[in-house]
Amino acid sequence: MNFQWWKEAICYQIYPKSFYDSNGDGIGDLQGIIEKLDYLKDLGVNVLWLCPVYKSPMDDNGYDISDFYHIDPQFGTDDDMDKLIFEANKRGMKILMDLVINHTSDEHEWFEKALEDSNSKYVDYYIFREGKDGNPPNNWRSYFGGSAWEQVGNSNKYYLHAFSKKQPDLNWENPELREELYEMVNYWLDKGLGGFRVDAICNIKKTFCEGIFPTDGEDGLCFIGNWILNQEGIEEFLTELKEKTFKPHNSMTVAESDVPKELLEKFIGEDGYFSMVFDFSYTDLDVPSTGEWFKPVNWTVREMRDKIFQSQLETQKIGWGAVYLENHDQPRSLNKYIPSEDIGFESATMLATMYFLLRGTPFIYQGQELGMSNCRMSSMSEYDDIATHDQYYRAILSGLSEEQAMEQMYRRSRDNSRTPFQWDNTQNAGFSKVNPWLKVNENYTSNNAKQQIEDSTSVWSYYKKLIDLRNESEYRKAIIYGEFLPCYTQYDSIVAYKRVTNEESILIINNFSAQDCEVIIEEDIKGQILSNYEGQSCRGNMYNFRPYESVVFAL
Ligand code: GLC
Ligand code: CA
Repeated sequence: MNFQWWKEAICYQIYPKSFYDSNGDGIGDLQGIIEKLDYLKDLGVNVLWLCPVYKSPMDDNGYDISDFYHIDPQFGTDDDMDKLIFEANKRGMKILMDLVINHTSDEHEWFEKALEDSNSKYVDYYIFREGKDGNPPNNWRSYFGGSAWEQVGNSNKYYLHAFSKKQPDLNWENPELREELYEMVNYWLDKGLGGFRVDAICNIKKTFCEGIFPTDGEDGLCFIGNWILNQEGIEEFLTELKEKTFKPHNSMTVAESDVPKELLEKFIGEDGYFSMVFDFSYTDLDVPSTGEWFKPVNWTVREMRDKIFQSQLETQKIGWGAVYLENHDQPRSLNKYIPSEDIGFESATMLATMYFLLRGTPFIYQGQELGMSNCRMSSMSEYDDIATHDQYYRAILSGLSEEQAMEQMYRRSRDNSRTPFQWDNTQNAGFSKVNPWLKVNENYTSNNAKQQIEDSTSVWSYYKKLIDLRNESEYRKAIIYGEFLPCYTQYDSIVAYKRVTNEESILIINNFSAQDCEVIIEEDIKGQILSNYEGQSCRGNMYNFRPYESVVFAL
């Protein structure tokens, strides 16, 4: 196993808008992150991934970029960004920015020039097509709902947008555009970034087809992914991107990309396009693959375990992975994986133990280390997220009542994880001096960082133990580089695996259930490294795991 700095990293994802507001305008900012760097340093993480902070009209909270080279005034100045990189590096932490190059904002000057002048070279930077009998070129549905084509004025021209209509897709077939993008990527890497989280990158190659395809929804449209996800020929673009930017900088790159098994080696093998990819299989196990998350999908612990284990085994054969439970597109993991009546210290720390010691670079999403939970808005008007509004609309269209639709928003809205970080029990959870841009979860008085840091039995303190274990314990090698070996899969509620090197081995057993579970352990146990309960009850090799108990054993 080759050494790479990012294999040993622990990454913390920051949603800048909701992390810390330093200047009292209700919106988190870069100075706010700088002020909280010591908090992150104390936690023990060493890579920080920032969701987009570039100039943006904020139609999709920064994933619609109007200027790649400058920071949005909402977040601060270009100097603030340089300072953040500097201050983080000083503390031994690297910064990853979010790289959004599948699309730009419709307010990006390239797109504005493309619309202004039909002879401009920028027309070919985007994907314009003629309509058909007054209709869009085909019936693709954008990921955010509605047609993926937007008409240009009253003309017969349409442009493609896989996401919102304010996010026109770039035409990667154009070599000049690609060069401009690479130059921009290198501009940022030269500033001393650790690398990038690469947004929606599996969508950059399109297989354009005219026509009306069979619908798969109530809206007469069909899932666009069939024509734009991992299309043949994408290899060429991704190779070029890597060779001209990431590789010469020895960058860490994490692609947001569900990769089919056959392509995995090309993505994350020794000479792959990226350092690692996010696998959605176990985080999206409660929604249909078409992304209609207002339609819940039932799942069992066994199914979840199969998905995680399969992902681990496939990845281990060829390269490196990213392991995570949450991000800014997901609801809080506690609410997703744990029945509401069971949410608490044990279940939160069981989830943490279960994923954090898997093979790969672990990611923690802001607030996950506190066990932050979903936040119910009192009405649709309190939701900010563009996708939430779309899903609500489609839920109603599909026949759900308003109450039923709201239940799905409570369950799955992306705003569940975007509420302001809960720093302390003062007003607005200590996030801001004024009313924040998005509602603060009411539970901040009993769940906040200040209280948890002072309490050695809190979820935060447990996360810190896990982080220390990976960063500096005698089991470090096994946790980072050890082989992943599934075990005890005969038990329905147990998620157990070993991490094994020639020198040391550990066994991780998690009881993913509110019931006790007795497990006959076959290995010779040397001792206990970590547990979320006091003591352990065993008779001989028969161990009783209490509700949501996790134990890490030394073998
Ligand atoms: C990615 C981002 C998501 C954004 C979308 C469009 O999926 O994670 O937040 O809405 O891309 O850029
Ligand atoms: Ca601010």
